[in-house]
Amino acid sequence: MSRAVILHARRACRDLLSGARGAAGCLAIAGALAACGADSATTPPPPPPPPSSDTFALRILADARGKRVGAAGDAGFRLTGSDGNQFRSVLAREYNLLTPENDMKFDHVHPAQGTFRYTGADSLVAFAEANNMKVRGHTLVWHQQLPSWLTNGTWTQNDVSLMLQDHIKQVVEHFKGHVVAWDVVNEALNDDGTLRSSFWSNYLGRGYIETAFTAAHLADPDAVLFYNDYNIEGVNQKSDSVYAMVQALKLRGVPIGGIGMQGHFQVNGVPSTLQQNMERFAALGLKVEITELDIRVSLPSTSASLNAQADDYRKVFQACLNVNACDAIITWGFTDRFSWVPSVFSGWGDALPFDAAYVHKPAYTAIYSLLK
Ligand code: XIL
Repeated sequence: MSRAVILHARRACRDLLSGARGAAGCLAIAGALAACGADSATTPPPPPPPPSSDTFALRILADARGKRVGAAGDAGFRLTGSDGNQFRSVLAREYNLLTPENDMKFDHVHPAQGTFRYTGADSLVAFAEANNMKVRGHTLVWHQQLPSWLTNGTWTQNDVSLMLQDHIKQVVEHFKGHVVAWDVVNEALNDDGTLRSSFWSNYLGRGYIETAFTAAHLADPDAVLFYNDYNIEGVNQKSDSVYAMVQALKLRGVPIGGIGMQGHFQVNGVPSTLQQNMERFAALGLKVEITELDIRVSLPSTSASLNAQADDYRKVFQACLNVNACDAIITWGFTDRFSWVPSVFSGWGDALPFDAAYVHKPAYTAIYSLLK
């Protein structure tokens, strides 16, 4: 580890400690920093890290690289007892960015017409702030997880346009100053690049995308506003279409600030054009983030498949390190104990850097070794 990285990491941990609340995780980090005090320019590089608690956490290493490393969470977050404690302490120790996995979605925050409920999301935001983590808002406009009062109602086009704008205004204003970035529009396109048929597009056509970004910017001009989607990580028909769309939006002055590439991969499925694709979006003046990374393997996993998975994690993090505009990578969860993968991709799982017992997997070690 270079001296600069160590110094930066020390400073980052001091900040974390003076933020006071990271407690348990930071104590481990503080121990590691004390150990690091013995380091000198002549000391040979340390042996491969984890799994143990006397190492730097990912967030300290990522910070030293000018990147954020995040995780999605809500399952597990509110558990009581040791499982909940473990979930929260690993989350706070390792990550400096938090995305609510479900708690900010339309059906969660807007369960009845005119009724907004923020209890779940507020508790996640409070947890993040207590642990010196930033929050990514997810997601304002999506075709899934919409409440039935909305999808089953009878509306005019104008009603839907006003409801879309009002929803965005209410939610973004509620979290203003607490959320650094929003996935404003999620998954608006089909794999062939055409507009997805959805509640929003069926009423409003393509124009809902621009309306949504404009409303979000009005509500919080400081938040970075993202278009987020899957299967747009490599150069392909769908990412070409997203590219054309956001280029046109930018030309018209629509306040879009970033592209979220979800990154739900199958092992050995990281596209070879990932970095090239990031670079072309970056050249439009956009941030690029990997927003929902997980890399599933066929179950039961084997040491070979988990090593292949680690290589894939390394490829994704390397691409992000190589592109300045890539300022964050967020995994969709962090422990195999709580992951959407097995319920959606039957026969697949073990997609995250920690196993179901919160033990580091080769994927974690690969990320760690790359960042350090
Ligand atoms: C998923 C959550 O992980 C699940 O808990 C929920 O049941 C369904 O949604 N793309 C997205 C995320 O943008 O919001 C989805 O999250 C996963 C796919």
